[in-house]
Amino acid sequence: VSVTPSDRRIAVIGTGHVGSTVAYALMLRELAGEIVLLDANAELAAAEAHDIEHANALARRARIWAGDYAEAASASIAVITAGATMNTAAESRLSLVNRSAAIVRSCVGALTAAGFGGIIVIASNPVDIMAQLAHEISGMPAGRVIGTGTLVDSARLRSLLGTKLGVDPQSVVAYVLGEHGDSELAAFSLAQAGAIPVRALRAHDPLDEVAIEDDVRRAGLRIFEGKGYTSFGVASAAVRICEAIVWDEHAVMPVSALLTGQYGISGVYLSLPCVVGAAGVDRIMAPQLDDDELRRLRASASVLEATHAALRDAQSVDV
Ligand SMILES: NC(=O)c1ccc[n+]([C@@H]2O[C@H](COP(=O)([O-])OP(=O)(O)OC[C@H]3O[C@@H](n4cnc5c(N)ncnc54)[C@H](O)[C@@H]3O)[C@@H](O)[C@H]2O)c1
Repeated sequence: VSVTPSDRRIAVIGTGHVGSTVAYALMLRELAGEIVLLDANAELAAAEAHDIEHANALARRARIWAGDYAEAASASIAVITAGATMNTAAESRLSLVNRSAAIVRSCVGALTAAGFGGIIVIASNPVDIMAQLAHEISGMPAGRVIGTGTLVDSARLRSLLGTKLGVDPQSVVAYVLGEHGDSELAAFSLAQAGAIPVRALRAHDPLDEVAIEDDVRRAGLRIFEGKGYTSFGVASAAVRICEAIVWDEHAVMPVSALLTGQYGISGVYLSLPCVVGAAGVDRIMAPQLDDDELRRLRASASVLEATHAALRDAQSVDV
């Protein structure tokens, strides 16, 4: 049964910088008639709900309120942004793992216990590990637990390439793959504009791929240094995933999903181009990579596997 956006409820769990921006963008983009906000800090959730509710008087009508897990349980999508944050730009996303895991475990545990049957979109960092944890704790099929992954990095890559090539970033197809973090890779062999590989387009004047990739990788940190957090990029990524789900788009986007043998990798969440629709991740694509990209993707998977294993060991010590 298709549910029109006005009947649709989306829950946003964690209403800090990222979550409040997600809720605001969901409202402006008219993706849900009901948006329920939850945060461990109930006053914060209530204040953000009121602020967005008042903004909504100037937009298409939606109901926005601060609620509880019983109300979130009937949502068709839960966007989870509750998590630990970096204290300094020098801290790696992976170092947040234990603190974030405790938070994500409690949110997903409460959501599942309340009978949630929708799709989880998660942005909490380290996002690949947190998506995998959410999948494991919820017991939901992997396709219904989606990490924002490298969608935001890929948007940055497309934006940079668009500027260099003098074309609209929307007309650039380019993917950052692997971990959303230090081991990610920009797959230049796949990058295209106007159905022409970017490398062929610039054969006479090759792009400095290392510098572009570095720029993409550091973009989040540069923003963090300037404003103390990042919000609009990742929130737009989470909302774009919600949009593909709401409209059953079957859009191809790089998001974090559980690999099942692609490139010989399985049992780990990382970003590859995925087909996203009403059921979540419908399919994971494995485009042909060059040897160096393949080696780096496998190395990225190994980093995530090791972090996931360390988290599992820490959890079993906790028990
Ligand atoms: N994936 C990405 O690209 C990306 C980008 C930016 C931030 N992030 C991550 O998103 C998360 C949120 O970042 P932020 O800047 O909004 O942080 P923030 O500190 O502003 O917000 C986090 C919120 O989570 C809430 N919270 C903590 N424990 C909770 C719990 N058990 N239940 C419900 N709410 C709880 C806190 O009260 C806080 O309001 C972090 O993990 C951050 O690293 C991811």
